Amino acid sequence: MTLRKIITVPNEVLRRNTHIVTNFDKNLKTLIDDMVETMRNAPGVGLAAPQIGILEQIVVIEFGDEEDEEAPKKLYTVVNPEITRMSNEKLMGVEGCLSVPGVVGDVERSLSIVVKGQNRNGQKVKYKLSGWVARIFQHEIDHLTGVLFTDLAESLWQPEEDYVDNV
Ligand code: NI
Repeated sequence: MTLRKIITVPNEVLRRNTHIVTNFDKNLKTLIDDMVETMRNAPGVGLAAPQIGILEQIVVIEFGDEEDEEAPKKLYTVVNPEITRMSNEKLMGVEGCLSVPGVVGDVERSLSIVVKGQNRNGQKVKYKLSGWVARIFQHEIDHLTGVLFTDLAESLWQPEEDYVDNV
């Protein structure tokens, strides 16, 4: 596995649209492994392929339980993710992004979502998610169409310390 360089604003690559993945080959698996390693190293709780300069529809998310710090983290790898349902109920929360260093902001997101996509082998996956992990998914999937959380934030500020997990 190789650490990849995380691209930051104002790099225009972050604003581009991405391609659907059609080849579930060895290169894809290597890319996904690199994304996971790069996310963990950052450290972050999510990473989308455009953040390492790859314009393909891939997100990786690693989430620890909000309530139980001892619980094992769950790693999600979703290729060609698509949000098929979003709750009308929304929640404001503070987000930060590995590609927008030094800034956090209040973003309103759906409380629960359904995500469909494929795993690294091309098999269909479907996740029903709510809370913080649903927020991370919405943030990462926005990266696939060039949307950054700063576009959606109601307010932005520079935090005095790193109290937000970056994605
Ligand atoms: Ni981000």
